[in-house]
Amino acid sequence: MINPETTARLDAKAQQILRANDKGGYTVPTKGLYPFQWNWDSALTALGIACFDADRAWQEIEKLLSAQWDNGMVPHIVFWQHEEGYFPGPGEWQSGRTPPTSGITQPPVAATIVRQLANFLPGDHSARVTPMLHALDRWHQWFADARDPDGRGVVAIMHPWESGRDNLPDWDAPLAHVDTSHVGAFLRRDTQLVNAAERPRNHDYDHYMALVQFGRNCQWHVKTIAEKCPFWVAEPGMNAILRRAERDLVALALQFNLPSIATRATHRLARLDHGFNQLWSDIAKGYTTLDLRNNKLEHRLSSGSWLSLYGGPENEERAEIHCSTLNRWRQQIRFALPSFDPGDPAFDDIRYWRGPVWAMINWMIATGLAEHGHPDMADQLADDTAALIDQSAFREYFSPVTGKGGGGKDFSWTAAMWLYWASPSARQKTETQ
Ligand code: DGY
Repeated sequence: MINPETTARLDAKAQQILRANDKGGYTVPTKGLYPFQWNWDSALTALGIACFDADRAWQEIEKLLSAQWDNGMVPHIVFWQHEEGYFPGPGEWQSGRTPPTSGITQPPVAATIVRQLANFLPGDHSARVTPMLHALDRWHQWFADARDPDGRGVVAIMHPWESGRDNLPDWDAPLAHVDTSHVGAFLRRDTQLVNAAERPRNHDYDHYMALVQFGRNCQWHVKTIAEKCPFWVAEPGMNAILRRAERDLVALALQFNLPSIATRATHRLARLDHGFNQLWSDIAKGYTTLDLRNNKLEHRLSSGSWLSLYGGPENEERAEIHCSTLNRWRQQIRFALPSFDPGDPAFDDIRYWRGPVWAMINWMIATGLAEHGHPDMADQLADDTAALIDQSAFREYFSPVTGKGGGGKDFSWTAAMWLYWASPSARQKTETQ
């Protein structure tokens, strides 16, 4: 149990981190390692900012959506200012945009965050929210057109970075089909800032760069990418997050009287809800990654598998399976929720997405658990997240085995999740509402 003095200290520290990472209209995930605006980092961070500055929280989303491409895509990085220390920078992506951006997207949490903000913050938000809903509708339509051109009801990623879960073991097999022989030499910057044992391996980076080069060689042309990209994978995290985002967009469009957006989002959602079943593995007893290029279903579970509960209503039998597997995972580690199955040989408790716990994934899964009638399990995730932050401060992620922090320090979305959800003061507020 975290005492009131520690709570007050951590509340103040979290606010201080968010203010220090504020570049004026957008917030960097952390200084040094990620010095620009990242898509889902930024949206999730807005929840924390909303706890002390409502206007600034809305700006975070407005700024992100202002970098939307003409085709509707909202990019994963916006390079608002010049910075030498990051690789791969604008010159590698060659997006042809002003401001420069990367050429790929990231999990579309923004609609969900807009709905949280609209419900959490007092006042009439229609003037601000209406243009956002138009932009979100165009982005979601881009997912349907560019990433599911055959209409099978699951969207593909063309790069592991699009999933936001960069080096998940799920990508190992599909990446093995990507030719890296022409990649050439490059200098990684991340491992100059963070212990290499906590980051993806060089072998993974060769593949990441081969896919960046593929995209820029076809000028990020979505049809060519869908037809020819050597990495074309449907995974449960991205698809569950999009399903939830469409659901939240429908609700917002009805609330703000935009019926045509509600109709379009409802159609897309029906297709996604139906298509999600293709990711179910009877062997793993959960949702897993489907390599669409090689028609191969992965049979291992990751934290993305539980995001199905956040994505939408799950049938009772499957929801029970999820809960019992989650409880089994819990017995193998000290802090939930590991990003990959702790019983699998590929599990690595401190290497980025091959094992560590991430605060914002815990929030999403806790939200899904609470909505499926498991508030006790949701509370446990908040307890674990708070205990990790108390032990290791606002790190990028944490070992589920030791609680040690990894990756970047003073991390925006960890601070945001503390303020909005895991801090005892946030939880007290929710209880009294
Ligand atoms: C990085 O640079 O490591 C990011 O995860 C890519 O978005």
